[in-house]
Amino acid sequence: MTRLIDGKAMAANLRAGAAQAVSALDFKPGLAVVLVGEDPASSVYVRNKGKATIEAGLNSFEHKLSEDISEGELLSLIDKLNKDDSVDGILVQLPLPAHIDAERILNAIDPDKDVDGFHPTNVGRLWSGIAALAPCTPTGCMRMIHGVLPKISGKEAVIVGRSNIVGKPMAAMLLAQSATVSIAHSQTTDLKERCQTADILIAAVGRPEMIRGDWIKPGAVVIDVGINRVIQDDGKNRLVGDVAFGEAAERARAITPVPGGVGPMTIACLIENAVRAACMRRSRPIPEM
Ligand code: GUN
Repeated sequence: MTRLIDGKAMAANLRAGAAQAVSALDFKPGLAVVLVGEDPASSVYVRNKGKATIEAGLNSFEHKLSEDISEGELLSLIDKLNKDDSVDGILVQLPLPAHIDAERILNAIDPDKDVDGFHPTNVGRLWSGIAALAPCTPTGCMRMIHGVLPKISGKEAVIVGRSNIVGKPMAAMLLAQSATVSIAHSQTTDLKERCQTADILIAAVGRPEMIRGDWIKPGAVVIDVGINRVIQDDGKNRLVGDVAFGEAAERARAITPVPGGVGPMTIACLIENAVRAACMRRSRPIPEM
C-alpha cells in the first residue's frame, strides 16, 4: 500500500528536537531573514520562518525592505548582519527583484552564516562531501527519503529540475549516498521514460501536475517539491504539486503530499541549520537534533 510521507509531522518532530537543543545552550542563536518587496508567496514563507524561529527559542530578526531598495543598500545590510555577533544565520528570501543581482547578494553573505547553503563556498563543500551548511529543501527531502528507504545506495534517482536551490544540491546529496543520479530539465527529450526508471523521483520544476501517474515506476519513492497555485472551476485557489498526486499515489511505494510534504520540512531544516551555524561559529559541538 502507498505510504503518505507526512512532512508536517516529521517537521514538528525536528523542530521540537531543535528547540530542546537550543534550550540546553548557554546562549540564544539568532536568525536574520531579509525580504525585499511584497511578493505574497515570499511574504507567507518569511512569516512562517519567523514564527518557527521564535517557537524553537531562537532570536528572529526580520528585515522587510521596499521593492525599490538599491543593490548597494542591500549589500550594506548584509555587511552589517555579517558583522553583527548576535546574528548566526542570514537568509535572503528569493526571488529578488530584477534590478538586484541575486548572485552578488548571495556571494556577500558570510559562508559561516549562510543557513541557505547557497554561497559558492558551501556549494563546493557540499559537492566535496565536507560537512557544511547545506540547502534546506533538499536536506528535508533526504530526511523524508531516509524515512521510507533506509538504503539509498544503488538506487536509480531522477531529479526533474536543475535549480541551484533544489535540483543541483539534491543531486549532490543523493550521489553522496551512492544513488545513480540523473538530472532532467526543460530540454530533456525523453522525460517520461527517464522518470519511469526512477526508484527515487524528485519533482522540482514548478509546473502543476506535470508528472502523471504512468510516469511513476511501481514502488518508487516520489518527492514532490512543487507548490503551484491553480484556480479551480469554481474560481477558488488550490495548491498542487508538480506530480498528479492521485494518479501517482496508485503506483508509488511512498509519496509526499502538497501541501504538508516538503514545505514544512524546509523550515524545520532551516532552524536546524541556524542552530548548527551558531554552534560552529562558537566552536561548540553541534547538538543532536
Ligand atoms: N525561495 C524559495 N525557496 C527558497 C529557499 O530555500 N531559500 C531562500 N532564501 N529563498 C527561497
